Amino acid sequence: MPVVRVKPVSTLRGTIRVPPDKSLTHRALLFAALSDRTVSIERPLDSEDTGATLGVIQASGARVEGELGDRVEVTGVGIRGLRPPMAVDCMNSGTLMRLFAGILVGQPAEKIVLDGDESLRSRPMNRIAKPLREMGAQVWSAPGGTPPLVVTGGAPLRGTTFELEVASAQIKSCLLLAGLHADGETWVKEPAASRDHTERMLRAAGVPLMDGDAGTGVAGPVESLSLPDISIPGDFSSAAPHLVAAALVPGSHVHLESVNLNPARAGLLEVLRRMGAQITVENPREVAGEPCGDLVIEGGELVGTEVAPGEVPSMIDELPLVALLGALARGETEVTGAEELRVKETDRITKVVEALGGIGASITERQDGFRVVGGPQLLGGDIHSAGDHRLAMLGAVAGLVADAGVRIDGFEAVAVSYPDFVADLAAIGGVPE
Ligand code: S3P
Repeated sequence: MPVVRVKPVSTLRGTIRVPPDKSLTHRALLFAALSDRTVSIERPLDSEDTGATLGVIQASGARVEGELGDRVEVTGVGIRGLRPPMAVDCMNSGTLMRLFAGILVGQPAEKIVLDGDESLRSRPMNRIAKPLREMGAQVWSAPGGTPPLVVTGGAPLRGTTFELEVASAQIKSCLLLAGLHADGETWVKEPAASRDHTERMLRAAGVPLMDGDAGTGVAGPVESLSLPDISIPGDFSSAAPHLVAAALVPGSHVHLESVNLNPARAGLLEVLRRMGAQITVENPREVAGEPCGDLVIEGGELVGTEVAPGEVPSMIDELPLVALLGALARGETEVTGAEELRVKETDRITKVVEALGGIGASITERQDGFRVVGGPQLLGGDIHSAGDHRLAMLGAVAGLVADAGVRIDGFEAVAVSYPDFVADLAAIGGVPE
C-alpha cells in the first residue's frame, strides 16, 4: 500500500479496538526472554517493530510459540542466559536497539553487532554508549555516535548514578537493565518523567527497584527475573490518530476500547481537553500493571493552546498530531522544549512543518518545536511519510479534514506500529479511496 488517498468526511462514528501497546510488547518479549519461566503474553502487538524484537529473542535462544497479534508463549533463558547471534537486526526500532544494548552488556557475548535500517542508523546512540562505558561496559558506536553498535558483554559493571540531559524512557530503561548486572546501585534521574513501563514491568517481575531523590534505582547484581503472564492493553499512541480525527470532524462520536492511559503517555488527552474536545473515560481498570480505560470522544470547535516543555515527554509521539489540531483550531498553538522530535524516526519538527505547510497550514519551525496559526480550513495535497509511521498516519488524518483530501506516499511505513490502520479508520467512516 505505497500510496493512500484520504478524502474529507462529514462525520466519524463507531468503535475501534486499537492495536496492543508497542512499548509494552517490546518489554514483555524482552523480559520474558530473561525470565526463568515460560511466560504467556496475551495480544502482543503484531507489527514490524515488535516482529524485530521477537526475532531477536528467538535468535538469542528463547523458545517462542504462538503468533504476535494473538498469544505468544516465551520460555525464558534466565537473566544471563541469552546467547545472541553475531549480528542483531533492530530494523527501524530505537526501543529495541537501546533496551537490547542494556541487556547485552550483562550477557557473556563477544562482539555482537547491533544494526538497523537507514533511519535507525541516523539516530544518536552515544546517549547510551557513553553511560554504559562509564559503568565499565564495552560498547562502541560508529564515528558519529550512531549505529552500528558493537557490544562485548560480560565485562564487570559498576553501579553508577546518572542525571540524564533529556527525558527518555529508552535511555533510562537501557541503564536500569544494565544496572541489573552491575555491582552496587545504579540510579537514573530525568529532567521530566518519561514513560515508566520498564519500571512497572520489572517490579512485576520481582525486581525491587528503588525511588529516591536520585530518581529510580536498582541494586545489582540481580540474580533472577520472573515475569508473570501478561495481557497487553491498547496503545495510546495508536488511539491518538483516531482521537484527533474525531476531535477535528464536527459531529463525530468515536469509542476506543481498552487503551493504556498511563499518565506518562496520555498527555494528549489534557491538550485535547484544553482545546475544547469532549472526552470521557469509561471502565477505568488496570491491565498489565498499567491504568487503562475506554475512551469516548466527540468532535467540535477547537481553540489553540500552548504545550509547555514539561508536558512534552507525556505526548512525545503525538506532537505531530498536535500540530494538525493547531492548524484547524481558533488562535495559535505553540509547542516548545521538544527538540527530541528531531532525533525520532525522522526529524519530526522539519518533516511536520513541511508536510502540514505543504497542504496549506500556517506553521513555522522553531529549533525546539513549532508554532501554528489556526485557520478555518486546510487546502489538502500531497504528503510523503519519509518512511516514518507517525507521519503516514498524520497525513491520513489530515486528509479527513482537508478540502481536497490528502494523498500519502510511502504509506507502507504504518506497518512499523499499526499495520491495520486503514481498516480501523474505515471502520469509523474515514474511508480511504
Ligand atoms: C519509547 C520511548 C520514546 C518514544 C518511542 C518509544 C519506549 O522514546 O518516542 O516511540 O518504548 O521506550 P524516548 O524514550 O527516546 O523519548
